[in-house]
Amino acid sequence: MGSRVQRIRALVWFVLWASGVVNPSTVLLGQEEELMSGFTGFHFLSIEKSCLFLLKEQASHPDVLEADAKQIAEMARQTFDTDGPLLVVASGRDTIPVSSAIKHLAPENVFVVQIQHPRSHLNRFDLVITPLHDYYPLTPEGQGQIPWFLRRWITPREPPGSNVVLTVGALHQADFTALRNAASAWHAELAPLPRPLLVVNIGGPARNCSYGVDLGKRLAAMLQNVLWSCGCVRISFSRRTPEKLSRILMKEFGTNPKVYIWDGEGCNPHMGHLACADAFVITADSVSMLSEACSTGKPVYVIGAEHCTWKFADFQNSLQERGVVRPFTGKEDMFKSWSYTPLNDTAEAASRVKMALAERGWSI
Ligand SMILES: *[C@@H]1O[C@H](CO)[C@@H](O)[C@H](O)[C@H]1NC(C)=O
Ligand SMILES: *[C@@H]1O[C@H](CO)[C@@H](O)[C@H](O)[C@H]1NC(C)=O
Repeated sequence: MGSRVQRIRALVWFVLWASGVVNPSTVLLGQEEELMSGFTGFHFLSIEKSCLFLLKEQASHPDVLEADAKQIAEMARQTFDTDGPLLVVASGRDTIPVSSAIKHLAPENVFVVQIQHPRSHLNRFDLVITPLHDYYPLTPEGQGQIPWFLRRWITPREPPGSNVVLTVGALHQADFTALRNAASAWHAELAPLPRPLLVVNIGGPARNCSYGVDLGKRLAAMLQNVLWSCGCVRISFSRRTPEKLSRILMKEFGTNPKVYIWDGEGCNPHMGHLACADAFVITADSVSMLSEACSTGKPVYVIGAEHCTWKFADFQNSLQERGVVRPFTGKEDMFKSWSYTPLNDTAEAASRVKMALAERGWSI
């Protein structure tokens, strides 16, 4: 075995967008940060549509290359001796052919991490990072819910092997440092607020978590019931929130001095809310908002979990079993806090990547 540990010099972060994604550049930025939190000090490459942005640490203008597997593999091979191996981190279905081709073409020179389950051929990646609920279709309950002829398209075919890192929720950027920065950025606006501060994050109905305006009405009534125990409440909607639903809450709380509703204008207070809230109420459809809130260690109440089906119901169950969320009932006293072991998926996944690299004699 070689004694010299080779340092990885670059990170390729693929995000090839399925059509219709709104404003890819902001989303891309968010995801870069998400990943960078695990790999600080990295040079990295990112792909947007068919362009590859090479972002070096101090570069003010990224070089733009084609997202071409052959070209990337060739570069990895040619520069291996001088610059060390290339770490490729790809996320999303559209990236699968490119990232697996890079590994196929330069297996000795790259380390390919695929985020989100690629459905098949896991041996085409060095590491796959995916939420545990992606394996729900392999459970007896899950099998019962999928017609057999669809299984090969939507299920992982076999249990996770040693190159699969399972997370509870989604990877995200709300780590300790990001929250501390957000707390200071939002200090002037959020610190003076009366406590406890309840943050309400509302998503929207999704294919396997579908609900109607009745959920909005129920939520409004339950919030009225807990309002006495809140210093203040801050509500925000997501892009997916139907207007019918947001209107219910606007009507109910629009003029209530204790309640602030973010109207979508100006800076998105989301990170500030994560950092400064004392408790959260979150609709069950949003895996990412729940994953973030459950990493803060603060009480998280879920509304609408009963509307989730299939692997999304499995995700809700796993959060409840871990004690990181409780169903919102409207009977809560927000002065009473409770605690749990926060989710730590992003840091844990990053540490598994580092371990796997070390096994190849490589380090970050
Ligand atoms: C949603 O759940 C139903 C079963 O309840 C299933 O047939 C369908 O494939 C699921 N769709 C998605 C996108 O998960
Ligand atoms: C999160 O995971 C990382 C990597 O395993 C570990 O170093 C860190 O201590 C964990 N943080 C918490 C709060 O458990």
